[in-house]
Amino acid sequence: MNTSKSIKDSVKEKYGKIANGETNVIPNISSCCSSKSCCSNDSNAVIDMTQRYTSDDKNAIPDGADLGLGCGTPAAYADMRNGMTILDLGSGAGVDCFIASKYVGELGKVIGVDMTEEMIRKANENKAKVNVTNVDFRLGEIESLPVENNSIDRVISNCVINLVPDKRKAFSEIFRVLKTGGKFTVSDIVVDGSISEKERQNAALWAGCISGALSRKEYLEVIELAGFKDIKILSEKKYDYILQSGGGLYSITVSGTK
Ligand SMILES: C[S@@+](CC[C@H](N)C(=O)[O-])C[C@H]1O[C@@H](n2cnc3c(N)ncnc32)[C@H](O)[C@@H]1O
Repeated sequence: MNTSKSIKDSVKEKYGKIANGETNVIPNISSCCSSKSCCSNDSNAVIDMTQRYTSDDKNAIPDGADLGLGCGTPAAYADMRNGMTILDLGSGAGVDCFIASKYVGELGKVIGVDMTEEMIRKANENKAKVNVTNVDFRLGEIESLPVENNSIDRVISNCVINLVPDKRKAFSEIFRVLKTGGKFTVSDIVVDGSISEKERQNAALWAGCISGALSRKEYLEVIELAGFKDIKILSEKKYDYILQSGGGLYSITVSGTK
């Protein structure tokens, strides 16, 4: 049976390999987290994950920072402003951190947290390619963030929280680190219908952003339980992927305020 530790070890191993440039790490799954043909059974249905970013935003992304692992564009909705402190959860090779860096300017700060050492190394290599001084990548877990209480203006995250076994802990950590009035904007995977026990036990499906997903209702309940108000779904996309239960898979971008 999958434990929280074994799930996280497997996720780390797989994303470590992806950071090191290995391909087909998550085999036989057209997944949001494994390729840009996001969760589609139709090989022609390639989705450009960065489609809602402006070309200015895209210009802020160094080569090698966008590994095609996202399932939305949270930075595009996050209302980031000059001088703010931004936290990106599961920052990967840094794609959304580099976009955020441009919005907050020299007076602001961007912190990217990821639990996979190889991703942090890759993100730092990407940082060295561009002239940014306001981005700091930290090795750490979303369930115990290496971040001060009440210190963050905006939390963003792109296709990550579905991978976290304890989603309540994840959202209570987001609540802890945000300033009062601060906001999170998260793109993530949810399902309608249910995920079978067999799917839950499949490590590749976990790492592929499918088996760890909650239903939309459960997801919003977890956010509400953490204490957030003004919870809104800002965008959503249905993928051409059918669960064993017959249910569907969606990417949503959701925000809430502390
Ligand atoms: C699907 S990738 C998304 C990366 C990035 N957000 C992007 O859009 O390119 C998921 C990332 O989340 C990280 N991750 C997964 N679970 C985590 C956890 N519990 N704590 C910190 N990082 C985690 C993985 O190491 C991986 O880099």
